[in-house]
Amino acid sequence: MKKIVITTGGGDAPGLNAVIYAVVHSCYRRGWEVYGSRESYRGFLDTDEMIRLTLKMVEEIYSIGGTILGSTSRGNPFATPVENLAGEVQLVDFSDKIMRNFTRMGFDCHIAIGGDGSLEIAHRFAGKGMPIIGVPKTIDNDLEATDRTFGFDTAVSTATDALDKLHSTAKSHNRVMVVEVMGRDSGWIALYSGISGGADIILIPEIPFDIEKVCEKIADNELHEKHYSIVVVAEGALAKDGEVFCKDNSEPGRDDPLLGGIGEWVADEIRCRTNKDTRSLVLGHLQRGGSPTTFDRLLALRFGAAAVRLVEEGVFGQMVALESSNMKAVPLEDAIKSRKKVNLNSDKVLTARDIGICLGD
Ligand code: F6P
Repeated sequence: MKKIVITTGGGDAPGLNAVIYAVVHSCYRRGWEVYGSRESYRGFLDTDEMIRLTLKMVEEIYSIGGTILGSTSRGNPFATPVENLAGEVQLVDFSDKIMRNFTRMGFDCHIAIGGDGSLEIAHRFAGKGMPIIGVPKTIDNDLEATDRTFGFDTAVSTATDALDKLHSTAKSHNRVMVVEVMGRDSGWIALYSGISGGADIILIPEIPFDIEKVCEKIADNELHEKHYSIVVVAEGALAKDGEVFCKDNSEPGRDDPLLGGIGEWVADEIRCRTNKDTRSLVLGHLQRGGSPTTFDRLLALRFGAAAVRLVEEGVFGQMVALESSNMKAVPLEDAIKSRKKVNLNSDKVLTARDIGICLGD
């Protein structure tokens, strides 16, 4: 008999509920109990927020987006923003308290589902002696140690769908449409959706762009009697000699700055330089919503089941990962070392170039 606790941390991603479903079912078959800590680590600090997960509670959730446990991007237990009596926000370290409560509540293992930030926190708890298994989640697909994170396929599919829809309106008005997509410092969502959604130009953080080249492509389209263009810009893309566009970075307890604004800048430049009617839009959190695709569901279910198999083997401090088409375990330490970037020699980049997509260089 074992007692397992699950957390979901950081930005949500389609497939979180499928992992929870797989963990609960895999544990049930072994006669183990599963608990879920609401909003990441809150359940360790307030017992009302620690819930027993039954088969009934997870019925059919594998197909539903979001997370039944809730999540937070500002829940770092080693530096949690807390307002003191004077109204000042201070960062408080709750990690020792969480360790004590983990033991007091009688847990044998913690399955932490998260992206790089949450897995870094998981690694720190592993260092404090918590038996922990990580599960890689993020729509950004930027974890080096796994071929794929779940959530990415759904985000790409949503972005591609949006691009398909933009074609008709761009064409009707002979316009340039600039679409800003998520992905932080990696261009995976922009590249995959841009190729699949017929973009003329894709701008990714891995290739600092020359706005002149972008405008040349639009002029070239005109020459070939194509009077509209679709531009996909990753939120972390930057012009040569330019900087990444960040939004207000004052949210206490947030490790990474919020990105955004590059799409509008690119649209303004195109409008000024080409005189073309140009509009921009930000797809934003639409990319994180909705039901997981079949690929993400299956991957998330496989990750959840693989995590429970590791618990059974007593292998902790690891993250489950996809390698080729198999599940494997990677030390958490290695999993958080670096963020995965688009390889500029990969066949996806070559495909984009071969089919005439401008990458801004
Ligand atoms: O990491 C996932 C992600 O959606 C990024 O693509 C994006 O930059 C960020 O989270 C947005 O964060 P928030 O949900 O806090 O606005």
